[in-house]
Amino acid sequence: MKAVIMAGGSGTRLYPVTIAVNKHFLPIYNKPMIYYPLSLVMLLGIREVLFIVNPQDLENFKKLFGDGSHLGMSINYQIQEKPRGLAEGLVLAEDFLNGDSICYMLGDNVFFGHDLIKIMSEAKKEIEEKGGAYVFGYYVKDPERFGIVEFDENGNVKSIEEKPKNPKSNFAVVGMYFYDKEAVEIAKKVKPSDRGELEITSVNEEYLKKGKLKVKLLGRGFAWFDAGTHDSFLEAGEFVATIEKKTGLMIGCIEEIAYRNGWISREQLVKLATPLVKTDYGKYLLELAEEY
Ligand code: G1P
Repeated sequence: MKAVIMAGGSGTRLYPVTIAVNKHFLPIYNKPMIYYPLSLVMLLGIREVLFIVNPQDLENFKKLFGDGSHLGMSINYQIQEKPRGLAEGLVLAEDFLNGDSICYMLGDNVFFGHDLIKIMSEAKKEIEEKGGAYVFGYYVKDPERFGIVEFDENGNVKSIEEKPKNPKSNFAVVGMYFYDKEAVEIAKKVKPSDRGELEITSVNEEYLKKGKLKVKLLGRGFAWFDAGTHDSFLEAGEFVATIEKKTGLMIGCIEEIAYRNGWISREQLVKLATPLVKTDYGKYLLELAEEY
């Protein structure tokens, strides 16, 4: 399985903050937003990643991640010329994927929870072995903002709708999707929605029609933020700060994960930490290199 992380978009819901800066570089507490989805992909053991980016942001993404070799990874980039929607990311990733299955992540989603990686690993395994699509539902108070999944009395998925005016449930589909290789062909056939976008929800609907969509609900033990609005952005930052200060452990620390995964040596970790040493982030990495 390879990972595709969607990091384009216009970020209009964060204006005026994102007029001059792409939202994925903004800090969720002490690290760029984009570290969070990347860290999950790394925790799943996926080393090949494609970022879908706006043309004007490519150089900055390269400044942040380069070719990924410093993390023991292969990081690649694909430009999305216009923010035409999330489904287009799958089409743009076709060459990179080369027929592989896909972990598709949205660059502005932040997740935290006990057993998260276990649950994601199960989804990965299921898609690799059996095919289909695997998505996750999360209870929200504002379902008009999201893709919404409806269940029948037996718990089977009945419908999926993008930003419904009259939501049929409160379960949002979060920005973490697992697909077999068919997703690329399905995405190619998606037509623009009423808001003029190629919706990822249309891809999920197609899997649903084929009886190949699995939805798992993330329960109370999970925190999920779509950090694409002023309030959710702030909430995500406050959440991360609180957990990190309480536990002394970092969330979404990509250098730590690369090191713990055995993808980089102690010397490489120290080299990555050195320019950051004026910050608690850098000190955390140096302590890690000394301890473990
Ligand atoms: C997108 C998807 C939506 C999903 C949400 C999760 O919405 O279209 O289905 O629930 O991400 O973050 P957007 O952020 O593009 O409005």
